[in-house]
Amino acid sequence: MILYVFFPVFLVSLSPTFTKIYSGDTFYLRCEGSASQSGVKWYFNDTEQMQTNETWKIAVATPWHSGSYQCESNRQTSDKITINVLGYAPSASLIIRTGQPVMRVNESVILQLDNEDGLRGWHCEVYRGKTTKYIKLKLQEDSVSLDFQTSQLTVPETIFWCMNGGQHRSNQITVRTSEKTVSLEMYPLPAVVGESLTLRCLVWGTDQISQTTFYKDGVMLVRSDDPTYTIPSVTESAKGRYKCMSIFTYKDRTAGPHYSESSDDQDVLVLVPPMKAFLSANVGMSCSCPLCPTASSYSWYFKSDDKPWTQVYSGQGFMMPKDSGTYACRALWSTGRSYLSSSFVYHPPVKTLFLVLVFLLLVLGSAAVAIAFYIRYRKRAATGAIYEDVERKKGDNDYEMLGHAQREGEYDTLHPEAPSRQKREGEYEALKKEEMEEGVYHTVQMQAASGGGGEYEQLQKEGMEEGQYQSLNMEGAIGGVEGHEASGKSDKGRENETEEEK
Ligand SMILES: *[C@@H]1O[C@H](CO)[C@@H](O)[C@H](O)[C@H]1NC(C)=O
Ligand SMILES: *[C@@H]1O[C@H](CO)[C@@H](O)[C@H](O)[C@H]1NC(C)=O
Ligand SMILES: *[C@@H]1O[C@H](CO)[C@@H](O)[C@H](O)[C@H]1NC(C)=O
Repeated sequence: MILYVFFPVFLVSLSPTFTKIYSGDTFYLRCEGSASQSGVKWYFNDTEQMQTNETWKIAVATPWHSGSYQCESNRQTSDKITINVLGYAPSASLIIRTGQPVMRVNESVILQLDNEDGLRGWHCEVYRGKTTKYIKLKLQEDSVSLDFQTSQLTVPETIFWCMNGGQHRSNQITVRTSEKTVSLEMYPLPAVVGESLTLRCLVWGTDQISQTTFYKDGVMLVRSDDPTYTIPSVTESAKGRYKCMSIFTYKDRTAGPHYSESSDDQDVLVLVPPMKAFLSANVGMSCSCPLCPTASSYSWYFKSDDKPWTQVYSGQGFMMPKDSGTYACRALWSTGRSYLSSSFVYHPPVKTLFLVLVFLLLVLGSAAVAIAFYIRYRKRAATGAIYEDVERKKGDNDYEMLGHAQREGEYDTLHPEAPSRQKREGEYEALKKEEMEEGVYHTVQMQAASGGGGEYEQLQKEGMEEGQYQSLNMEGAIGGVEGHEASGKSDKGRENETEEEK
């Protein structure tokens, strides 16, 4: 202790103590021996930084973070440490198999470790702020994949990774804890520029969520009944602190108001992948990675719908896909792997042809039906069984085609094939009565089913010598009024909603 006071041990420490730092890693630099929590000066490549805390968190490492680090406190400077961040991801993959990146205190997750070259000699480690602990794995011979359950999550941030000697490692998985009922969840690794990112607002113990609001850096992004928020193509500006607020209830709660709670803030970290694979599709699919070592092999991944990626093939940089779905690839070599390529949506040509055929058949089929109807209609019109064309009378420019009543007294013939118009019968009935008193009979000819002619109806006044006919565009009039009323109503509804919100 005395030694400490008179000869401060002054150095920059790196934690977790990695021998290699890969793109996407989280690490901490600590100014060991500094007397105060703040008031520390940090130098990167001999340039003073904005950072003044004793601990400097690098949340997403990229090759830009490579260089020398030095700290200064009480006018004393530490030694420099040099950090080199690799431009790719480590060779093994660690994922959350069961659980979420944000869990409740004292819960645990199940992690899954995969390594193409087998897991012999591998172990995992866990970092809970300041201390790193060893996790022994119960390995079976020749296994390439292993699940293990973590111990209880007690601190706000726990980082897991696995390794084999100093050469091989997996990516990190960071699991956070929250005391809140509502949590904002996302893919546990940093969002990659150009890829999509989905944020999900979960409520522990219920899925009866009626409304979700997402915020970024305190500003509302969107409010809807959808508990997810998707950024289709991530850019660096997507970086920030996000949270969500849910209005929800529980299944067994039948009365009372809904709950409204918000989540903790979560950081969205964005990574520009330095070494990314490229997928190109022609006859088959090709994968390439110009910046990767030449002795790389390639892994191919497949997913359909919302399911996670699964590896479908490993080896060549060329593949003939079988199933329709989304594909991606990456390059792999002994110590690392590239970032996943952009995804490609594949439809087998046979299926595409089949769909085109079905579509053509549908189009042809409906055309045939339409023609058949038309011919039938023309036949009926020609025989004059129901309707007939009447010669146009001179000086009578108001109409061309007239309906012809079959029998006198049968003044209201409604086309039987227009059931949707039943409710409008009332309108005709009113008309009928009026006409009856006048002793004039009308035929209402409805052409709805005979193919596109239902836009208007013609009323024929039979027996009037002068041939005074009225043509009423009933549909137009009624429809127009109804439409107006309906839109008027919904406008009002919307106004009320906004007022309630206020
Ligand atoms: C510095 O440390 C304090 C307290 O530990 C923390 O609240 C603050 O966010 C830190 N600042 C930065 C820039 O990390
Ligand atoms: C910092 O210095 C290292 C070593 O000289 C160099 O490779 C790196 O590009 C520098 N980084 C920046 C951001 O200037
Ligand atoms: C978590 O577990 C510890 C001991 O097992 C207990 O003391 C603590 O109250 C628990 N915390 C919560 C939030 O359940």
